[in-house]
Amino acid sequence: MFKRISALLLAGLTAMSVASCGGGGGTTTAGTGGGDEPITMGFSQVGAESGWRTANTKSVQDSAKNAGITLKFSDAQQKQENQIKAIRSYIQQKVDVIAFSPVVESGWDTVLKEAQNAKIPVILTDRAVDSKDTSLYKTFLGSDFVVEGKKAGEWLVQEYKDSTDKVNIVELQGTTGSAPANDRKAGFAEVIGADQKFQIVASQTGDFTRAKGKEVMEAFLKSQPDIDVLYAHNDDMGLGAIEAIEGAGKVPGKDIKIITVDAVKDGMQALADGKINFIVECSPLLGPQLMDLAKKVVKGEQVPTRVITVETTFTQEQAKQVLSTRQY
Ligand code: AHR
Repeated sequence: MFKRISALLLAGLTAMSVASCGGGGGTTTAGTGGGDEPITMGFSQVGAESGWRTANTKSVQDSAKNAGITLKFSDAQQKQENQIKAIRSYIQQKVDVIAFSPVVESGWDTVLKEAQNAKIPVILTDRAVDSKDTSLYKTFLGSDFVVEGKKAGEWLVQEYKDSTDKVNIVELQGTTGSAPANDRKAGFAEVIGADQKFQIVASQTGDFTRAKGKEVMEAFLKSQPDIDVLYAHNDDMGLGAIEAIEGAGKVPGKDIKIITVDAVKDGMQALADGKINFIVECSPLLGPQLMDLAKKVVKGEQVPTRVITVETTFTQEQAKQVLSTRQY
């Protein structure tokens, strides 16, 4: 009799522990291990506009899997209204945490307030919002884009330190109103602004895409007779511009010096080939840190309000050395 009761108790305890690990409700993702509750994250991605973005999406998806976090993912195709819709749907679905990379800086207060009222913590990843009320999100994980712009400017100042001639620069900006476009422009302008010989003769958005980068560079080449330097806010626009420069019979990296931001594999290849002169790194591998932060905010633990990604820069020689081991 005693043996039977023990066996029944054991069976009951085993069933209970299986249920708590599995999360119940038909969810496909296991818990986070070590007795943590299962977490569901709603993630609204900007789009698929660049090599950087593709690498970022993969990093987020792989890291969620590794961390045992169920990920609801949506691609906003570079449209703010799609991101707002996705966030509202995550609120309705009562996810445990919302993360998103805001396509532009402004216009988020209302939806962020809705998430706050629903007691769902929000993490900003990659890009910032300009909301005055910083209690609307728990933390912002990503690069310092102003510093990236400054690094680009510092290389240029160094490159032309022995020249007194005017340096005509054209600029391919990222998506209008986005944090990386605003900040990379500002950081660069601040550094080169100290010397009057540097002049930005044309500046236009290429929307962070290769196709638009090519199209806008073609227009620059027609309207600007004497371009010395192209500063592109990402590799993809720079790569599109290289096609335009070659199409116009000029040699990229020589006739026109090129600085870009990101350091994705295609960009690094062009740098190693001498078609780009300098790349400022912007790391898309934010997934692991994002999942760690998500676990903490869901548990109600304190997290830093700003987590800045560690990044470097690459010359042509450095690109040749690291190209074979580049992850993205
Ligand atoms: O927000 C990061 C930027 O977005 C990357 O530099 C660019 O390539 C991407 O589209």
